[in-house]
Amino acid sequence: ETKRIYIDSQTPEPEYIEEAAKLIQKGQLVAFPTETVYGLGANALDAHACAEIFKVKGRPQDNPLIVHVSNFDMVKSVAEDWNEQAKRCAEAFWPGPLTLVLPKTAFIPDTVSAGLGSIGIRMPSHPVALSLIEKAGVPIAAPSANLSGKPSPTNGIHVWKDLQGRIPLVLDGGACNVGVESTVLDLTGKAPMILRPGGITKERLEEVLGEVKVDHPSENQAPKAPGMKYRHYAPTGELYLLIGEREKILSRMTEAIQKAHSRLRKVGILCTLESASELHSQLPDLLFVLGSEKRPEEVAASLYEGLRLCDEQGIDVILAEGVSKNGLGFAIMNRLEKASGQKILYL
Ligand code: TXA
Ligand code: MG
Repeated sequence: ETKRIYIDSQTPEPEYIEEAAKLIQKGQLVAFPTETVYGLGANALDAHACAEIFKVKGRPQDNPLIVHVSNFDMVKSVAEDWNEQAKRCAEAFWPGPLTLVLPKTAFIPDTVSAGLGSIGIRMPSHPVALSLIEKAGVPIAAPSANLSGKPSPTNGIHVWKDLQGRIPLVLDGGACNVGVESTVLDLTGKAPMILRPGGITKERLEEVLGEVKVDHPSENQAPKAPGMKYRHYAPTGELYLLIGEREKILSRMTEAIQKAHSRLRKVGILCTLESASELHSQLPDLLFVLGSEKRPEEVAASLYEGLRLCDEQGIDVILAEGVSKNGLGFAIMNRLEKASGQKILYL
């Protein structure tokens, strides 16, 4: 049976941290909040415990785990080459939503890195995550705490729904602030390259590193982050992403709502605050306001909740309004594009 402990996200109760840390040391799994999404953690030095993560999630074996650290001594046990760029990134963005891909040490089992010679490392800023790692005294390998193929969990309820009965403990610290996963930055090549856009924007990275490239996988080139090739974040309903001028999006959505209703299908709308009133008057079955287009942090923080809600309410057709790709919008649109399975309408 899974135990769920409500923990203080700002000042975690030491006895709860201790209980969780002991499980990690014994080779068991614990779900815990980070500032991005919840993680499903195990001792990163314990191959058997890490193999269990793959089983519990139903995760493909070729998809490496991110290793979470709480101090720089731990970094040394994980990364073989802590280079100049890594130092600058850590100085600027750690603890925080940035994962650095570097050559790995021999301490890290192949299970964790999925056989790659590199490892993704991150120092999270969430007080519960940091104190859990510190108390356990070992780096913690943790993917997002969802079942594979579901949207990442951004609150304890999401984790509970996905993993109840499969793991011994969920530390429930409420909602995650950032709401999209960390930026995965590859520092093993000549130029730094974003493999997955996330909580730290390209613009901010470039302030520290100069030019940063972005991995653009194509038909004949697999993404460099193995996880990016899967159809992640996919709701059961068919999701269409609408991009363009507001007037055009609104009229297209209005038509689509009517058409779907004439076929007795349930329609869900994911839209910005600026579009909400007008779409509400079209009577969709679900209207989920992601946040103001002026505040992408708000949109990022609510995105996965919106996707999960569509499934819970049995929505057949989901119409999502695109946002600007600047800043955090780049990560938001990356997730929406994936959720749509590339069903994107440019208006
Ligand atoms: O915000 C986050 O990063 C959350 C929290 C829990 O820290 N974790 C997370 O983990 O999103 P996961 O496993 O859901 O996604 C990790 C991504 C995958 O796309 C994986 O392929 C990629 O990072 N990745 C991990 N190690 C890598 C490596 N050595 N080389 C390339 N990509 C790597
Ligand atoms: Mg994930």
